[in-house]
Amino acid sequence: MADLPLPVSWSVDPLAPGFLDDRHAGYAFLRRQHPVFLSEHSVGAGRPTWFLTRYQDVRRVLADNRFLRFPTRPSAPPTAAGDADALRFQGVIDHWLIYLDGSSHMRLRRALQRAFSKIEPTLKEVVDQEVAGALSGLAEGETADLMARYAMIVPARVMCRILGLPRLSLADYFEWNGAFLRALERTNGLTSWQEAGRAVSELEAALSDQGLARLGDESSEFVDCLRSAAELDGSTSAAAVMANIVLLLMAGFETTAFLIGNAVSCLLNHPEEAALVRQTSSCAGPAVEETLRFEPPVQVTYRSLSEAVEIGGVTLPGGAMIGLVIGSANRDESVLPAADRFTPRLQRRSHLAFGVGPHACLGAGLGRLEAATAISRLFAEFPRLRHDGTGRDWRMSLTFRALESLPVVL
Ligand code: HEM
Repeated sequence: MADLPLPVSWSVDPLAPGFLDDRHAGYAFLRRQHPVFLSEHSVGAGRPTWFLTRYQDVRRVLADNRFLRFPTRPSAPPTAAGDADALRFQGVIDHWLIYLDGSSHMRLRRALQRAFSKIEPTLKEVVDQEVAGALSGLAEGETADLMARYAMIVPARVMCRILGLPRLSLADYFEWNGAFLRALERTNGLTSWQEAGRAVSELEAALSDQGLARLGDESSEFVDCLRSAAELDGSTSAAAVMANIVLLLMAGFETTAFLIGNAVSCLLNHPEEAALVRQTSSCAGPAVEETLRFEPPVQVTYRSLSEAVEIGGVTLPGGAMIGLVIGSANRDESVLPAADRFTPRLQRRSHLAFGVGPHACLGAGLGRLEAATAISRLFAEFPRLRHDGTGRDWRMSLTFRALESLPVVL
């Protein structure tokens, strides 16, 4: 067995300050020199955190259900003991599909899959309408932040329609989503957990009969189907259904918004590819697919193990956190030639942007549809679309590859 890799300079430690200054250079170094890397920092309650950066290692762990999700879920700070709001949010997270394992995960996933396949035939129309609605707020020649004015709006409106809340204000949606995210960032304290718990109560009120009468036109086919699939299964409680509606509100929103933003940005940086999308709308799909490989919105996901396991010649101890660096795996040159180039025409679909295995993304089809529609319609409607010259603003996040703003001239 190879020696344990020694922690190297802070700048190539994904959890160290400075790594995000050039994450792709950091990934490339780790893939070559330290493919199984022990961070000097921790993402979870002081537990050692290891990062895997090579395609084959990341894929193997994603596909293997011995690697667990539940132990990786964030927990309320110790000061939350007895606090009803903070504990409400913890109760919600504990039911989330993304953090379940084994048979409880399988049962809930089946119920959600049933609900998604029920609404599948209606999605294209909903997405077309919401893209058209968002485009109608933009005018040729104006300078606009495309994240705020377009990329964030399309998936938020689509999720409101799917969840049966078409008249929910986007301000409320963004506020709840922000509250959940702040609590999930492991560095934030009790206040953020209390705010997230209160946001859950507000969402519950919106989804109650009274709220639906105010915010919905008709009941949601998706939520109804999810409720009856859960009842049929018998082991999924009403609380679990509610908790996973909270999850979908988040999972179906920013990831897709980031994908739209990253795709526009990649295309504006590659004018010859943008020209193809402008001329032929069917080129938008391959451009989105290549964005998923090249700048995947979800860069890292975590797993844990109950016992020690060997990966790449290194023994990872039981209880460790394992960071699977999707953003690095997708650029692994030993698997994907010219991995550092944005080339939609190569149609590389073997990327890991939606995960693989038991937890593979349930909204991949919807995310692809939204992004491809949003991109093709945007470039057709605004043929002179360009960066406004002030530069892009990447979010300082290891987990997400996301633009805070994308200033363009339409
Ligand atoms: C388009 C951008 C999206 C990206 C890049 C993305 C990425 C991912 C990834 C990487 C995972 C797997 C995480 C893991 O294995 O640890 C995942 C899971 C999941 N995603 Fe997405 N997602 C996107 C859109 C969506 C949408 C639109 C929805 C719902 C409407 C959604 C719902 C989910 C759910 C429910 C899971 C959990 C599956 C499970 O644990 O069994 N995602 N997503």
